Amino acid sequence: MASMRFEEQVVLVTGASLGVGRACAEALLAEGATVVLNARRLGPLEAAAEAVGAGERVHIAPADVSDSAAMGAVISDVIERYGRLDGLVNNAGAHFRGPVTERTAAELGIMVDVNLRAPLVLSRVVLPHLLETRGFIVNIASLAGKVPLDGSAAYSATKFGLRAFTFALHEELRESGVRVSCVSPGPIETSFILDDLSTVTDITLSQRMCTPADVADMVLDCALDGLPERAWPPEGARLATIGYLFPALRRMLKPLMRRRGARNRQKLLARLG
Ligand SMILES: NC(=O)c1ccc[n+]([C@@H]2O[C@H](COP(=O)([O-])OP(=O)(O)OC[C@H]3O[C@@H](n4cnc5c(N)ncnc54)[C@H](OP(=O)(O)O)[C@@H]3O)[C@@H](O)[C@H]2O)c1
Repeated sequence: MASMRFEEQVVLVTGASLGVGRACAEALLAEGATVVLNARRLGPLEAAAEAVGAGERVHIAPADVSDSAAMGAVISDVIERYGRLDGLVNNAGAHFRGPVTERTAAELGIMVDVNLRAPLVLSRVVLPHLLETRGFIVNIASLAGKVPLDGSAAYSATKFGLRAFTFALHEELRESGVRVSCVSPGPIETSFILDDLSTVTDITLSQRMCTPADVADMVLDCALDGLPERAWPPEGARLATIGYLFPALRRMLKPLMRRRGARNRQKLLARLG
């Protein structure tokens, strides 16, 4: 029989209609949780809720995570409906790729609002409830938050910020029973990257890709053991740390990584047809 490690827990997952968020919702439901699925568009949310099944243990909450008032109302509704909140997965993300001069001020603002401000504000709102349930927060960061990703400077900055927030809050809440973690993946096979492949750099594609289900597994493990960070792929995470510490070495390795990324792109395009 499958383990039910989240039985009777209520978990909010942002960006849950597609990709990683939806995989997290599925994994949590399979382990007994009641899951509140958030995203902006109602249609994909309803489709996801139907696809993941689980009837009364699924609730949808359409809202933009960067709208603090709307998300405050989502949390109030969850508490009114279930009387508790045990977990938050800050997963919704935005990425407008390309040099910062080619991005509008609005696009830069959206990345900061969705990737960084929203998780901070939402954490503040849910923490009183998580302190009661000794619950968890898992933030979805990125390898681009471990090593600067040129060509995606603003996105990279938001993910560095999200990791810093995670580690500081993790420390702050060490004695409280609330677990705070982040998951930092390399490229994941979702629309986030596949819909926009021509703008994704070869450096990004030089890493092994993982699936949304791989990321969901790491999210659930973090939610349970509160390890500050899990990253994937392991060799990519190690390279990111080395590249962060030794920028000159990172520059030397770039041509090699670009060549590997270009080869991976061809393989991916062939596989996608
Ligand atoms: N895919 C990758 O290669 C990769 C790599 C590293 C890290 N990540 C991170 O992983 C996370 C999930 O990405 P993914 O690949 O699963 O993306 P995805 O497949 O494109 O799904 C994004 C989800 O977020 C929702 N969303 C987007 N903006 C939102 C907003 N402002 N408010 C509420 N919901 C919003 C989308 O639905 P609506 O559009 O209807 O709102 C959708 O449900 C992101 O934080 C991303 O930065 C992705």
